[in-house]
Amino acid sequence: MAEPKKLFIKTYGCQMNVYDSERMAEALGASGYVQTAAPEEADMILLNTCHIREKAAEKVYSELGRLKPLKAAKPGLKIGVAGCVAQAEGEEILRRQPLVDLVVGPQSYHRLPDLEARAGQGQRAVETEFPAEDKFDHLPARPKPRRGPTAFLTVQEGCDKFCAFCVVPYTRGAEVSRPVARVLSEARDLVERGVREITLLGQNVNAYHGAGPEGGDWSLARLIRELAEVDGLERIRFTTSHPNDMSDDLIEAHGTCEKLMPYLHLPVQSGSDRILKAMNRSHTAEQYLRVIERLRAARPDILLSGDFIVGFPGEEEADFQATMDLVRAVEYGQAYSFKYSPRPGTPAAERAGVSVEVMDDRLQRLQTLLNQQQRARQEAMVGRNVRVLFEKQGRAPGQLVGKSEYLHAVHVIAPDSALGESRAVRIAASAPNSLAGELLAG
Ligand code: SAH
Ligand code: SF4
Ligand code: F3S
Repeated sequence: MAEPKKLFIKTYGCQMNVYDSERMAEALGASGYVQTAAPEEADMILLNTCHIREKAAEKVYSELGRLKPLKAAKPGLKIGVAGCVAQAEGEEILRRQPLVDLVVGPQSYHRLPDLEARAGQGQRAVETEFPAEDKFDHLPARPKPRRGPTAFLTVQEGCDKFCAFCVVPYTRGAEVSRPVARVLSEARDLVERGVREITLLGQNVNAYHGAGPEGGDWSLARLIRELAEVDGLERIRFTTSHPNDMSDDLIEAHGTCEKLMPYLHLPVQSGSDRILKAMNRSHTAEQYLRVIERLRAARPDILLSGDFIVGFPGEEEADFQATMDLVRAVEYGQAYSFKYSPRPGTPAAERAGVSVEVMDDRLQRLQTLLNQQQRARQEAMVGRNVRVLFEKQGRAPGQLVGKSEYLHAVHVIAPDSALGESRAVRIAASAPNSLAGELLAG
């Protein structure tokens, strides 16, 4: 048998890209590729890219520059650019970077084997259509190796919301939900292979409305209730949600579905109604706070996470203070905050921006507050019992690392036999981005 060809994939951006990279590896498996962690060994290198902020997009070109010596040493090496930069820039990538052989957008991954073959014949190819067929239908069935205890599963993709700052509706296309039967069979397959926790993915995952097996659309809450029936699946999470799609049944599921973990990432971006309107978010700060209130009524211990943008065009100090007030009202356990980055083709890119100095200052004040909240929430965990699903070995000898129900990373001295399982743990200490605990019996 011929030596298998080696594929190196570097993934940037969100969890959906992580999922997509796995599926691309499977698609190229059919062309005889196995994955490698060493780029210098690779016969093909794929960069799965992110376009969300300018810095993220620019990384691609600097990374491509670094690949030059590898290509010089191995002229047969194929280099591909996938993901959201591929979608947004297409042909431009081939122009800017002669070493690139193929460019493939997020909706065309099932065409990768064909593009790879064409690259082998010396043809550079770009594929950024939004084909009508489902890319997931055309990928080969997953092979069945065992895998770690946690997995992502895309159930919804694309976005119709068009927030004024965001490229996602352009790079991922219109909102599409996968049919219930496909999601369930993929989930069962993952569980058979050792997965205990599934995170359902979508750019607007709570807008999920997939075709049910007997006709009619299912909501995300109904899908979660059905997934909860899968034996061996212990934990369900979902991300990312939009405040306007937090329906009553989904909020209720947080109180009634035991397998649904008490953690929710619910971006708000700003606490100022004036800015929310300029962002085209179509909700107010008050509406967001009401959703949080109802979630906490359903599940009092839920840990909340959010996304924030500072320095959106037109943001005044008073608007920023409204964001700080909202953060104080919510008390997040975790959060991401960003300086506004104008993205080509989005409506906000045309508007006059806030100065870099002001943005830096606001980001620093916001992050100080968010970090305090995260620390307080973590410290409140000390002395409490949680269940930890162990994912991998830690740095210290004999130590394992896993996640609590609240998605805290927890370090515990535990036997390797606990890997892939969830165990009761008492939290003993809080470190900057993780907790330490002791294994309890049971
Ligand atoms: N679909 C998700 C995530 C979108 S991207 C959602 O709707 O929340 C993840 C985060 O990146 C966003 O929530 C936002 O906070 C940030 N982001 C998106 N575009 C940005 C831009 N142009 N500048 C700065 N941050 C941005
Ligand atoms: Fe982007 Fe807004 Fe859609 Fe989220 S909801 S992906 S921020 S346009
Ligand atoms: Fe980035 Fe595309 Fe995800 S722009 S955040 S990789 S949807």
